[in-house]
Parts: sequence; structure tokens; C-alpha cells
Amino acid sequence: MDWLRKTKWLIRQEITWDRMIAANIRGWRFWQIDERIYWLYKPKGNDLIGEELKSMHALLTSIWRFSPERENSHPAPFPVELPVRVIYSIMDKKKGVVIDPYCGSGTTLVAAKILEHDFIGIEISDEYVKHAQERLKNYEKEIKSVKEETAKHVVLKTFKERKEEGKFTGRYRPQTNNRKVMDSRQQEQEMTLFNYVENNKSPPRICKNFNIPKS
Ligand SMILES: C[S@@+](CC[C@H](N)C(=O)[O-])C[C@H]1O[C@@H](n2cnc3c(N)ncnc32)[C@H](O)[C@@H]1O
Repeated sequence: MDWLRKTKWLIRQEITWDRMIAANIRGWRFWQIDERIYWLYKPKGNDLIGEELKSMHALLTSIWRFSPERENSHPAPFPVELPVRVIYSIMDKKKGVVIDPYCGSGTTLVAAKILEHDFIGIEISDEYVKHAQERLKNYEKEIKSVKEETAKHVVLKTFKERKEEGKFTGRYRPQTNNRKVMDSRQQEQEMTLFNYVENNKSPPRICKNFNIPKS
């Protein structure tokens, strides 16, 4: 972080990427499955934080769960969903230029292209430049993954609607016997709220059928 202190950039948010997979082969430490994403902002005058995110983006949490990309010969690619979440949340409907100074196999560039932004990639290895160019030619293959990510950016109900319908709005809600069946987006929003309930219990586990078990 020393280099950052020497710049004018501030950390707007630290995001944890839960890679949901580990490759440690020895037991000196617990398996490290997370990486950090730093969202930096360069203040403009008194504006130390920048524009507010639209609710549909901000309702996603600061813990991002994506498995690493597997069908990619680059040794350290991230999944296309990750730059899609970044670009779509920050740019929303605006158009701009996305720059990735270490673009590797071009994941960020593919995300920018599909989201219809201009983009610039910088990469030291000729091999990876060719890889990125090839991916960009075949970007259609990745549209499905991009759409799956953008589909998560929705507000199912506003705070006002939830309140009017007597739904959970952030305060402690006693457990009921009714198990809920939700789609993944509903579950993510509910999980966000549950995680902050002051009942000192572990958040509900994610189950395959998206039921939230009683604790
Ligand atoms: C972690 S990888 C990025 C992977 C990329 N996000 C992807 O999904 O494929 C970092 C990349 O930076 C490249 N790199 C390292 N030093 C560089 C430099 N000085 N200038 C440009 N690229 C560099 C490496 O060759 C490597 O492909």
C-alpha cells in the first residue's frame, strides 16, 4: 500500500473476491480462497467519493463469489463476470473507455466490448496479446456469461415496497417455520440483509435449491 499513499488516489472500497476454490497442497496455513479488489478514486476538489451507484448495483455485496476461469490457457485469468460487474456498476448506461494495463488474455477487454465500451489493453507478452486478440474476435461465445452477470443487477423491491408489504427491511426478524424458495437474485438480496441482522448467528448457508434453512 506504500505506493498508493504516494499518489492522490483514495480507496473507495475494498472488495473480497471469494474464488470458491483453493490450490494449497500443504497445511501451513488455512486454504486461501480470497483475493482483494481495490476500487480507487481520485478526488476532485471536495468530492472524495464520486458518483453514487444505482441501487441495482449497490445491492450486490462487497463479497464477490466467482469461480476462476477454467477454460483459459493464461495462468492467472479472472472470470469475465468480474470485470463485467466492475464496468457495468460504475458506468451503468454511460459509455467510456476501459483501460487494462495488464490485460493478459483480454478478459477485461471482452467485457468492455460486450458492454459496448471502447477499450485499450496493454500486455508485455506477445503470446498473451495474440490470445486476447483471438478472444476478442470470438467475443460472442462469452455473451451468455456477461448476460448472466448483468441479470443479477436488479432491484426486486424498493425499500418502500418492502415496508408497505411488511417484508424484512433490515431489523431483526424472528425466525419462522416457513422455508422460502427463492431464485438466486432474491437470495442474494435476502442474504445481504440477513448478514447484518444482529442475532449473532452465522448467515444461512447457500443450498443448492436456494432454500434458506432455519438456524
Ligand atoms: C494477472 S495477469 C492478468 C490476467 C488477466 N486479468 C486475464 O484475465 O487474463 C497479469 C498480466 O500482466 C502482464 N504484465 C506483467 N508485467 C507487465 C508490464 N510491465 N507491462 C504490461 N503487461 C505486463 C503479464 O504478462 C500478465 O499477462
